[in-house]
Amino acid sequence: MSEINASASGQFKLGDITVNRLGFGAMRVVGDGVWGEPKDRAECLRTLRRLPELGVNFIDTADSYGPHISEELLREALHPYDGLVIATKGGLVRHGPDQWLPVGRPEYLKATTLLSLRRLGVERIDLWQLHRIDPKVPQDEQFDAIRQMQQEGLIRHVGLSEVNVAEIEAAQKYFPVVSVQNMYNLVTRSHEAVLDHCAAKNIGFIPWFPLAAGSLAKPGSLLDTLAKDKGCSPSQIALAWVLQRSPVMLPIPGTGKVKHLEENVAASGIRLSEDEFKQLDQQGRAASTTS
Ligand SMILES: NC(=O)c1ccc[n+]([C@@H]2O[C@H](COP(=O)([O-])OP(=O)(O)OC[C@H]3O[C@@H](n4cnc5c(N)ncnc54)[C@H](OP(=O)(O)O)[C@@H]3O)[C@@H](O)[C@H]2O)c1
Repeated sequence: MSEINASASGQFKLGDITVNRLGFGAMRVVGDGVWGEPKDRAECLRTLRRLPELGVNFIDTADSYGPHISEELLREALHPYDGLVIATKGGLVRHGPDQWLPVGRPEYLKATTLLSLRRLGVERIDLWQLHRIDPKVPQDEQFDAIRQMQQEGLIRHVGLSEVNVAEIEAAQKYFPVVSVQNMYNLVTRSHEAVLDHCAAKNIGFIPWFPLAAGSLAKPGSLLDTLAKDKGCSPSQIALAWVLQRSPVMLPIPGTGKVKHLEENVAASGIRLSEDEFKQLDQQGRAASTTS
């Protein structure tokens, strides 16, 4: 086992599947604007192949990353995914770099899931997440389509993304929601209520953009000082804080570089004292409300 190992982050059970809490986001192995081929394809493949060696067994992707390219690279690098959980998403279409359009028509959700299955080379997707609820389509129609896909055996577990508590509760009437993926980090705290709900119901909370620390990382700050004391980077402390925030927290930092991946996984072994955690918490909440 490598010295750096994601198992140090602890484990969480997504439905009936146990994963190490520190996962990986495969949105950064494609081109700028999450569009097209990555600049350094070989390094992206090396990064993906390093994941199991570092104990990372929970990998997040989406049909829309590239589009298609992230799922295709994962297959090239890691198929048949021994011991790995590949979570993908559907429900956003792409017309160009940085453009994301929700499409929740039931026939589209099924078609895109069938294509994810084909690209990933699996018979069933372990965790399929609705990338966005489409405001143009009745919510119940979208949830019903997902329930049908689960009943047909195309998907094992279901997650949601960028949702509030009422939306999670509405979806629970159609299928068990095992995870929620919302933007969250030390200084972006608008989903505290959703996180508390997930903790109470034992739903995995997948914070995207988990490395951000904004102005809290400036030289001379508490975050900066803690990083220097512990011999690591401010973003590693920010990630360690996110992991420590809740036992249902499953961060998925993303990168296309082996060195950055190793740094991120090393954060799973960093422990903050109760006092360090609380001080960062207060500063993060204050920064979140003023930003
Ligand atoms: N559900 C949603 O709507 C949604 C939205 C956005 C993202 N996501 C998911 O969440 C994952 C993470 O989100 P994110 O990529 O926005 O945020 P992130 O993981 O917090 O940050 C990624 C950025 O930080 C850089 N980076 C990563 N590790 C680094 C390190 N050790 N040192 C310096 N720079 C580093 C990456 O560039 P390099 O490649 O240069 O390292 C990249 O630009 C994505 O991969 C995706 O799976 C979901």
